Amino acid sequence: MTTTGEVPTEAAPEQRDALVGRLFEAAIATMDVFCVYVGDRLGLYAGLADLGRATSAELAERTGTNERYVREWLEQQVATGILEVEGTAAEATARRYALPGAYHEVFLDRSSLNCLAPLLRLTVGVTKPLPALLQAFRTDGGVPYPDYGVDTLEGIAEMNRPMFLNQLGTEWLPAIPDVHARLLADPPARVADVGCGTGWSSIAMARAYPKAEVHGFDLDEASIALARRNAMAEGLTDRVTFAVRDAADPDLAGGYELATAFETIHDMAKPVEALRAMRGLVKESGAVIVADEKVGEAFSAPGDDVERLNYGFSVLHCLPVGLAERPSAGTGTVMRPPILRRYAAEAGFSGVEVLPIEHDFWRFYRLNP
Ligand SMILES: C[S@@+](CC[C@H](N)C(=O)[O-])C[C@H]1O[C@@H](n2cnc3c(N)ncnc32)[C@H](O)[C@@H]1O
Repeated sequence: MTTTGEVPTEAAPEQRDALVGRLFEAAIATMDVFCVYVGDRLGLYAGLADLGRATSAELAERTGTNERYVREWLEQQVATGILEVEGTAAEATARRYALPGAYHEVFLDRSSLNCLAPLLRLTVGVTKPLPALLQAFRTDGGVPYPDYGVDTLEGIAEMNRPMFLNQLGTEWLPAIPDVHARLLADPPARVADVGCGTGWSSIAMARAYPKAEVHGFDLDEASIALARRNAMAEGLTDRVTFAVRDAADPDLAGGYELATAFETIHDMAKPVEALRAMRGLVKESGAVIVADEKVGEAFSAPGDDVERLNYGFSVLHCLPVGLAERPSAGTGTVMRPPILRRYAAEAGFSGVEVLPIEHDFWRFYRLNP
């Protein structure tokens, strides 16, 4: 083993205790994440919001769940400071519980940027194939995207949907004046939405630009099936279509005015091939826009919250997904700007511009032909 510096070996009780405290808090916080997941998936928060103040039996009846389990969950939620209780000293079955009004948006308003339930659902979802992940570490394998199941797929969908519906057509694309103008103009513009997942970005673009036609592509069959249902429910099937396609397929073609890739390039085994395909998808005058994680320009220690969150998702999900197909670039969630610039150059783009779009978690790039 080679080392470039001395690693301190002396006992440092304060440093040790700080880590012990931090990890203990993290274990409690993890319990919160999983218990919120239970409440979200079983409709317990929604049931409480409907009932106002409810006993465990009333909530169980309302949600078709078992009273004893519900009572334990309610007590956990009070103990951790999320729910309110009336009659702490009363018989356990007589206590009445409530969801504070300020929290309704956080758990229940699926259109709000403050709705955190989907992020927690995704966090639980990425732990589903843990045995396969350990095996992948040991054997140089990967974990295919479908193995993460419905919580990951729908967690991503629900997490990104409010951003797409609230910001994509009203802030992000209007911040790129030539693209915005073209999407509004005649003849109707055509958009290719690569790695579209469950289709909310495609739907948001079609909603914001009533003339535009949007074609979403994704490799995941379950995502495309849901995207089609979403477009149907939105009444947009005349202008929004979806297909199961590999973004790296060199046969992708179409003379589009715009090609987009939202939070997907870092998941792809062949990002260079996918960017090359996007270059081929657009007309000479067309634009290629990529949005991906707003991680730092370079690795640094310690990382900020965005880096910590994205490294977590990378270890547990995005890297093993990317490595499930071989050969693979093995990018992971932490795709820093220099990495994207290299991929873009290898795909034949002349340069990459970081767009002046403010966002806490994503950075927006325009890839120049
Ligand atoms: C994190 S999800 C993002 C989905 C969607 N763009 C959104 O923002 O909600 C990444 C998506 O990339 C898709 N993907 C990964 N590799 C792909 C490929 N080679 N071709 C097409 N889609 C791919 C996955 O199936 C998944 O739906």
